Amino acid sequence: MSDLDRVLSRIDSDFDASLDRLFDLLRIKSISTDPAFKGDCRAAADWLAAELSALGIVSEVRDTTGHPMVVGHHKDGAKSGPHVLFYGHYDVQPVDPLDLWERDPFDPAVITREDGSKIIVARGAADDKGQLMTFVEAARAWIKETGGLPVPVTILLEGEEESGSPSLHPFLEANKDELSCDLALVCDTGMWDRSTPAITTMLRGLVGEEITVTAANRDLHSGAFGGAARNPIHVLATILDGLHDDKGRVTLPHFYDGVIDMPADVTALWEKLGFDHQTFLGGVGLKDPAGETDRTALEQIWTRPTCEVNGIWGGYNGAGFKTVIPSQAHAKVSFRLVGDQDPDQVRLAFRTYVREHLPSDCSVSFSKHGGSPALRLDFDSPELAKGRKALSDEWECEAALIGCGGSIPIVGDFKTMLGMDSMLVGFGLDDDKVHSPNEKYEMTSYHKGIRSWARILDELSRD
Ligand code: BES
Ligand code: ZN
Repeated sequence: MSDLDRVLSRIDSDFDASLDRLFDLLRIKSISTDPAFKGDCRAAADWLAAELSALGIVSEVRDTTGHPMVVGHHKDGAKSGPHVLFYGHYDVQPVDPLDLWERDPFDPAVITREDGSKIIVARGAADDKGQLMTFVEAARAWIKETGGLPVPVTILLEGEEESGSPSLHPFLEANKDELSCDLALVCDTGMWDRSTPAITTMLRGLVGEEITVTAANRDLHSGAFGGAARNPIHVLATILDGLHDDKGRVTLPHFYDGVIDMPADVTALWEKLGFDHQTFLGGVGLKDPAGETDRTALEQIWTRPTCEVNGIWGGYNGAGFKTVIPSQAHAKVSFRLVGDQDPDQVRLAFRTYVREHLPSDCSVSFSKHGGSPALRLDFDSPELAKGRKALSDEWECEAALIGCGGSIPIVGDFKTMLGMDSMLVGFGLDDDKVHSPNEKYEMTSYHKGIRSWARILDELSRD
C-alpha cells in the first residue's frame, strides 16, 4: 500500500473525530466585525494554534492591532517539492437575522436530508472553518500515518478576512521572510457543482464605502417642515439610483477602465460547463438576471464589475409610525472589481460623483471599508496541473477551472508583497448560504475535501 493510500484510509477511519474537532471550532463565536466578540476571536486562534501544535505543526498566536494571526510551520521530514503556505480564516460573519436560523448558529449539528445526504449546519461551517479544517485534517492524517508531510508547510490563519483583512497587510510586510513560500494554497472558494471539483483562477476585487448625508441640524416634524425642508433620505436614494443606467451599467466616469474581456479560450472552457442561470437564480427564488442587460448571468458574476447597496438606513424604523424628516441618512455601498480596475480610482470616482450630485443644504461624509484589486491566476502553471490531477482523482471527475464573484482580499498581497502565486481550491457549493442564516457545509465536501488535500500534498511532492 502506498503512503497516500494509507493516509486516505486513515482519513476515512478517523472521520468522526475530524467532525468532532470541526464542531469544537464551530462553537466559538468568532465574529470579527463586532467588537463584542473580540475574546471569541482570540479563543478561536488559541484553539487552532493548540490543535496544530499538538500535531507537530509548531504554531503560535501572534498579536496584531486587530484580531490575532495563527502561524505554524512544519518543514522537517518533507521529502521534496515546493514549500507551501496554507491560508484560511477563522473569523465568521455576523449571524443576523437570528430569527431566521432554524437552530442556534453556534451549536453545530449534522442534519440528514430527505435523499439521505448529510449537511453540517452552523455559522462558519462553509466559510471558512469547515474549509480550513479540510487542510488541517489532511495534514493530521499525513503526520499521524507517515510521521511527516510530503512537502514543507507553513500555515497562516487570520481572523479578519470578513472585515477586509486590515491587519494582514502589515503582518505580511513585517514577516515577509517567514511567510514567503513557493506557493500559497487557499481553501475559501467553491466547487463547480456537487460532483465537480474546481480550482478558482479569478476573484473579484472589492471597494467598500459607508456614506452619511446630513441635511437639517436635527430631526424635524414632517408636518411642520415637510415640503420646505431637505430630506436626506430622498437625497441619498436619488444619488444611489443614479449609480446605474437603464442598461444596468454603472454610471461613474471611467468606472470600466481596466475591465478586460475574457479571451476566447477561457470563455470556451466556461461554455462547456453548461451554466444554467435558471437553476442558479431559481435556487434563491429569482428568475431573471438583473444586472447589465447585454451579459449572461455567469459573465455578470465572474467577469463584470458591480455596484451594490448593501445597507441603507435613516429616519424612524421602529414599531408603529413616526412622522419625521431625519437629519441624516446612511448607506453602505460596495463595488466588485475585475481585470485591472483600480480600487483607489473607483473610490475617488464614487466620492466625486456623490459630492457633485449633492443639493444645497446637505453635507456628506464617507468612511472606507477595505479596497482590493481583482485577481487572475496563471492557467498553465505545473502546480495547477498537479492540483487538478489530485482533485480529478478524488472526485472521479475532471476538475473545472472557474471564476468566482467573491473576494479574498489578501490573495493579491501574496503576489505583490511575497511574490507568491496562489492555488484556490475549495469545496463550497452555491447553496451553502454563506453569510446567510442556516449556513451549511456538505458532509461530502468535508470528507472528500480532506481527502483532496491529502492527494494534493502528495501530488505536489512529485517531480
Ligand atoms: N469565502 C468568501 C469568498 C467567496 C465568496 C468565495 C463566494 C466563493 C464564493 C470570503 O470569505 C468572503 O466572503 N469574502 C468577502 C470579503 C470582504 C468582506 C472583504 C466577500 O467576498 O464579500
Ligand atoms: Zn471565506
